[in-house]
Amino acid sequence: MKILLENIKELVQVTEEPVLFRAGKDMAKVSTIKNAFLIIRDEVIEEFGSMDQLKEKYIDDDLIVEIDCSGRLVYPSFVDSHTHIVYPHSREKEFVNRIKGLTYQEIAKQGGGILNSAKRLHETSEEDLYYSAMERIFEVMKMGTGAIEIKSGYGLNTEDELKMLRVIRMIKETAPLCVRSTFLGAHAIPENYKNDVSHYVDLVINEMIPQVASEELADYIDVFCDEGFFTPQQTDRILMAGMKYGLRPKIHANELGLSGGIQVGVKYNALSVDHLEYVGDEEIAVLKDSETMPTVLPGAAFFLNLELSPVRKMINAGLPVALASDFNPGSSPSGNMSFISSLGCIKYNMLPEEVINATTLNTAYAMGISDSLGSIAKGKIANLFITTEAEGIESLPYHFGSDMIETVILNGEVQTFGFLQ
Ligand code: NIG
Ligand code: FE
Repeated sequence: MKILLENIKELVQVTEEPVLFRAGKDMAKVSTIKNAFLIIRDEVIEEFGSMDQLKEKYIDDDLIVEIDCSGRLVYPSFVDSHTHIVYPHSREKEFVNRIKGLTYQEIAKQGGGILNSAKRLHETSEEDLYYSAMERIFEVMKMGTGAIEIKSGYGLNTEDELKMLRVIRMIKETAPLCVRSTFLGAHAIPENYKNDVSHYVDLVINEMIPQVASEELADYIDVFCDEGFFTPQQTDRILMAGMKYGLRPKIHANELGLSGGIQVGVKYNALSVDHLEYVGDEEIAVLKDSETMPTVLPGAAFFLNLELSPVRKMINAGLPVALASDFNPGSSPSGNMSFISSLGCIKYNMLPEEVINATTLNTAYAMGISDSLGSIAKGKIANLFITTEAEGIESLPYHFGSDMIETVILNGEVQTFGFLQ
């Protein structure tokens, strides 16, 4: 099966040479081809170039579907490298309580927040969790996401953590987009371990990690290393245990303070450290010599009115930055990566080009998939989207809140959306 996209006004984020991520000044570089064509064979990108290079030989064999992209831009799908989309229920009450003046931490201390979701998750069947998560999957697919990382972390006991991870595995097996799974047993301290956190850490290390690994349920391991949650020392123990089972870290760090999370993440060669509202010179220096992708979650900062991560300072210091949605019921109930792109420009002063790199290539690196996704390159998986008519690459972040994604192609197939229940 072959698909030809022709008369593309601008083909965006083309990479001719393999590149795993872009950092510093290079983040402002995005290659595009104006008046372009692109050919997909089966599930991969086979060929692309400018329309005047489109030779007859490309359109002779096989069944071919032609899509006219006049006036439209074609992008590689968004890669969303940080989400918690398996959850039992939304949390509107906390939203209202925050409007009335409570903080995220105060709500968490009163048994709301993550613990509230954990209680409800315990009562929810695997099947119901799967179907509600798949609704969210279809929602984000329509909004241009073609790869997604999903975390556990609303279980907080062995049985329920495994339940969540099995749901993620089912999503991986049935959803058309690329999925990676992260074990986040250390997401919050359960009520019954409130005064005995080190025993909860023991449980994560001695019981959860070995079972998660023996069922091969996770690609990565995460810890919420922040003030009021897990300390760097506890995080260190958990990451060390995960490493023994080949689980590379992708951790929550420095959302609520200079927690030491970045340092411990880099020490264990984390693939990414995420949130990063609090980043000082020391943290920048540590990240500079690492293979760890600094990942900012603008949806959470927007929704919780947090301090903004010093993104410009990080990029100016030569670091790469990725932007992900953090889709979850407590701090970012949206997986809209176009809106995340708008926030990148508006709140973090990023250029549209920087935002494109931050939401495609750099998030693909942060998910460990940038060899096969995250840009328009020959041989990469054909996950991409076609916009509505647009002026140029600034249009998508400029029209914040608008739906500019008209057609979605995943694994070389044009998607029609509908639920499978
Ligand atoms: O990334 N910060 C920790 N965890 C999530 C929030 C989870 C929740 O509130 O349910 C986050 O923001
Ligand atoms: Fe998160």
